Amino acid sequence: MCGIVGYTGKHSVTDQLLDSLELLEYRGYDSAGLATLNGDTGKVKLRKCAGRVSDLRKLCQNDKKLSTCGIGHTRWATHGGVSDENAHPHRIGDVLLVHNGIIENYEELIDHFMLHKELKSQTDTEVVAAVLNRFYQGDPHDAIRKTVKYLKGTFALVILFVDHPDVIYAIRNVSPIVAAYNENGTMLASDVVALGATADRYMVIPEYVITELHKSEIKLFDWKGEPCEAQFMEIDWDTTRDGKGNYPFYMEKEIMEQPEVIKATMEERIIDGRIDLSVDGIPDNILKECERVCVVACGTAMHAGLVAQAFIQSKLQMHMSVEYASEFMYSDPVIDEKTLVLAISQSGETIDTLEALKYARKKGAKSIAVINVKGSSIARESDYVMYTSAGPEIAVASTKAYTTQLIALFLLIGRMAKVRGAFDELDEKKYLENLVQTPDKMQEVLEQKEAIHKIARDMLDAKDAFMIGRGLDYSILLEGALKLKEVSYIHTEAYASGELKHGTIALITENTPVVAVVTQSRLKDKELSNIREVQSRGASVVLMVKESFELSDAEYADIFLLPAMADEFMVFPASAALQLLAYYVSMDKGLDVDKPRNLAKVVTVE
Ligand code: G6P
Repeated sequence: MCGIVGYTGKHSVTDQLLDSLELLEYRGYDSAGLATLNGDTGKVKLRKCAGRVSDLRKLCQNDKKLSTCGIGHTRWATHGGVSDENAHPHRIGDVLLVHNGIIENYEELIDHFMLHKELKSQTDTEVVAAVLNRFYQGDPHDAIRKTVKYLKGTFALVILFVDHPDVIYAIRNVSPIVAAYNENGTMLASDVVALGATADRYMVIPEYVITELHKSEIKLFDWKGEPCEAQFMEIDWDTTRDGKGNYPFYMEKEIMEQPEVIKATMEERIIDGRIDLSVDGIPDNILKECERVCVVACGTAMHAGLVAQAFIQSKLQMHMSVEYASEFMYSDPVIDEKTLVLAISQSGETIDTLEALKYARKKGAKSIAVINVKGSSIARESDYVMYTSAGPEIAVASTKAYTTQLIALFLLIGRMAKVRGAFDELDEKKYLENLVQTPDKMQEVLEQKEAIHKIARDMLDAKDAFMIGRGLDYSILLEGALKLKEVSYIHTEAYASGELKHGTIALITENTPVVAVVTQSRLKDKELSNIREVQSRGASVVLMVKESFELSDAEYADIFLLPAMADEFMVFPASAALQLLAYYVSMDKGLDVDKPRNLAKVVTVE
């Protein structure tokens, strides 16, 4: 994981790097560092520490802001614990380096180049700095090429050579680097978000291309040393952003943005009352001719796939599997040219999802990616892409990315149903009538946030919690449970409630919090019976139920009524309620809601 930045230009670099690093902290936040190189004096300043970018800012506060060229890093530890010396940049001799990725053969390299005495850290990155330094004899390209030939793994390397002031060198394999320039300088970063207001266009640095950032231009050279060009893309996100606005945390802001971004995701794909995927260039024949669908994704994106699965099977009577991307290729999946693979990813950079997609394509599968970040690796790897319009999602816990993924999937499934003859005109019309209501139904939940805040207050002391439901409710709760555990640290598990009695019910004791979601008409009675079973064993049940359902007089610790929609669409109001629940528990426990411990938002390690 990790976030990297580099800037060379007219302005003082320290604040520029610190501001950009703060925007990249979602990629890792256990240590941070920067190195600046003063072109006039040749002086190098290296500052790094375990902790947040705010700690690094304190460390830099007395530095004179003279340098106009520098590189920076925010870390998510993989090799070597969280310590000052393991923080990047690493300096060996004339080479300063930051890295995002993993060098798998770093131990071999230590032995091969006999680096034991030179290394001060336990990181794979410092090994690359040492190898570069071995090869460096004044020609950066030569040293980079010779070094990269030895590297196994993934890397985005951003390098300063002390005797080449004002120039930043970069090269990458898999891990992303984007770059942009304007009249004040040039900049690169792991993600377009960190380019700030640099420009309205950016380029994705191609793999194995040596990139030079000069103060007023970016030069690219292919592996043979020939100048080459990268494609520019429009920055159509508001990367200057107004930060958290009036919200204490990004997570709340992003939850609240959902009606708007869902609308934006739908807007360009519903034309004259019909689903139209021409904006994505997806031809009907790949939806029509596939015999099976397979989702590859991780975390929240995988949970979006599970909701789609329930849906595809009922609407299309078609086989669909949903796989953890990290397990996919090791399970020898049945994939062929009749398989349509859906790769779902907010960042478009999750390495497990990327590798699973590559594997499936090699086996002949067609692919559609559902992605939030434009131009990201998974988007580029896939045959077709549906971009969600969630905009930048900064909180590590995913909220608006999830619901916009669902919208994209619902649109895709709706179109599939139409072209495969499972929907006639009327079915499509009814389907869309429901879909376009989702922003308003979510808004109704968001307006009741204080009611959910009240429910959250009763859960603050819980060590364990359970979430129970059946069918689609169970799929919804898998995501609800992930949300609660990742931001509140309460051990939370979602269970298919009919399965409880086969073991898990042994864990229910007096006052164990259980959140039950009941939104599916044909399952309602069975779900309510399962709730009684845990209540009889002392559980304290919070019921989130579709408002149109009639309930008996049973008592609940709390009830939250979810605005009614057709059953299949209840995932939207229910998810908003579960997101708010997780958010308020975390906030009231005084935790850092946007940056839960040990996590990172973009996972570029396998
Ligand atoms: C990380 C994030 C999750 C996310 C998952 C997949 O674990 O913390 O929020 O769901 O990666 O990320 P992607 O970018 O592929 O959706």
